[in-house]
Amino acid sequence: MQKKINIGLIGFGVVGEGVYHVLQQTPSLQAEVKKIAIKHIHKKRNAPAELFTDDASLVLFDDEIDVIVELIDDAEIAYEIVKTALQLKKHVVSANKKMIADHLNELIALQNENKVSLLYEAAVCGSIPIIRNLEEYYDNDLLLEISGIVNGSTNFILTKMNEQGLRFDEALHQAQELGFAESNPTLDIEGIDAVNKLSILLKHSFGLPILPDQIFRKGITSITSYDNEYACEKGYEIKLIANAVCTHNHEVQAYVLPCLLPKSHALAKVKDEYNGVLLRSKLADEQILIGKGAGRYPTASAVVSDISALRFAYRYEYRKSNRNKPYHFSTNFELDVLISYAKETTIDRTDFISIEERYISDKRCHLKGRISVQKLQQAHRKDEVSVLVFPAKDVNQNSDLFENDNEIAVENALR
Ligand code: HSE
Repeated sequence: MQKKINIGLIGFGVVGEGVYHVLQQTPSLQAEVKKIAIKHIHKKRNAPAELFTDDASLVLFDDEIDVIVELIDDAEIAYEIVKTALQLKKHVVSANKKMIADHLNELIALQNENKVSLLYEAAVCGSIPIIRNLEEYYDNDLLLEISGIVNGSTNFILTKMNEQGLRFDEALHQAQELGFAESNPTLDIEGIDAVNKLSILLKHSFGLPILPDQIFRKGITSITSYDNEYACEKGYEIKLIANAVCTHNHEVQAYVLPCLLPKSHALAKVKDEYNGVLLRSKLADEQILIGKGAGRYPTASAVVSDISALRFAYRYEYRKSNRNKPYHFSTNFELDVLISYAKETTIDRTDFISIEERYISDKRCHLKGRISVQKLQQAHRKDEVSVLVFPAKDVNQNSDLFENDNEIAVENALR
C-alpha cells in the first residue's frame, strides 16, 4: 500500500476550501489534511473546528506533516512560510504567483539544497497544465512564442462588457462575487497578476529569470468606449495578452498589454474566466490550451494534481535555464499599436517610427503605427492615453535562422 501524504494546509479561502473538499471526496489519493492554518480563527468554516489553528508554525513544525500546501494571498507571509517549509525539508505546493515570481531563483536553490519539491501549477492559468507542459515538452522542439490570456478576471470583465453591455464596475463586481478576482482587484485590472504569471512562464519557456517589474505592462483600466467601438468596427476583440516571443538572434521580447485580436484568432474566442495559451514552436507550429483560469475547483484541480505528482517525486527540472546558448531578455523592440488620446497635443507624432493612420476629433484622437517600446512606455503614462497592440503575426517568418537550433534543443534535452 502506498504511504499516506500528510498535508498542512495554509489558507482556507476560495481555493483552500476547494482543495480540502476534493481531498475529502477522493480517498484513493491517500492524502489527508492534518492541520489548517488560517488568519481569522473565529470565522465559521466548512470543516471540523479541531483542524484549524491561527498559528502557522504549529503546521510547519509538525513532524507528521510532509507536504505544505500554501494557498494564502499575502505574498510576503507566503514567502516566509514556503521558505521555512523547504528548509524543514517539506515538499511545498503553492498557488501564489506573486510570491513565486518575486523569489523563484532563491526558492529553486532551497528546494535543491533540501532535496524536496516545490510545485506551483495552479499559480499560472488555473486548471491549464501549462508549467508541466513547458517542462516536459519543447526540449526537442524549439519554442518560439508563448502568448496567452492568463488572467481570468480581466477576461471575464472584457467579455461581460462586450457581450452583455455591463459597465466596468458591474463586471468587476461579478468577478469578485464569483471568487475570480484577487482580494485587491487592482492586481487583476492593472495587469500585475498577469505580469507575475508571465515572469514564471519566462523561466519555464526560455529559462529566463525575469522579475515582474522588468516586464512592460498595462492593464485594462484605460480602455475607452472609443477603443471598443474601433475594435468592433474593424472586427477585433480586445484581450489582455501576456506575450513572450523569441527572435532570430535569441532575444526574448515580452509584455502584458491589451491587444486587438482578429475575431478569427484562437485567443479571441476565449471568453469569460477562461484562460488560453498559444504556443508556437519550430516543428509543431501552433498549439493552444484553453481552460478555466480562476475559481475554486479549476484551481483546486491543479493543486491536487501537484499533490498527486509528489507521489512520484516529481520536480521541475528547469532545463531551459541550462541551454548551451542562453536567451537574452530584450527591452528594446518595436510594436504595432493603436494609441488613442483625448487631446491632440498629448502624443508627439515624431515618437512613432512609422504612422499608418491618423484621426483627430474633438472627443478623441488616434494614431496607428509602429513605435519603440521605450517611446511607448513614456507615451502610455500621459493623461487619458490608451494603448492597444496589434500582435506581430510571426516575427521569425521567412527566416532561415534558427537552422541549427533544433540540434541545440536536442543536445540540451540529452544533457
Ligand atoms: N485573480 C486571478 C485571475 C485568479 O483572475 O486569473 C487566478 O490566478
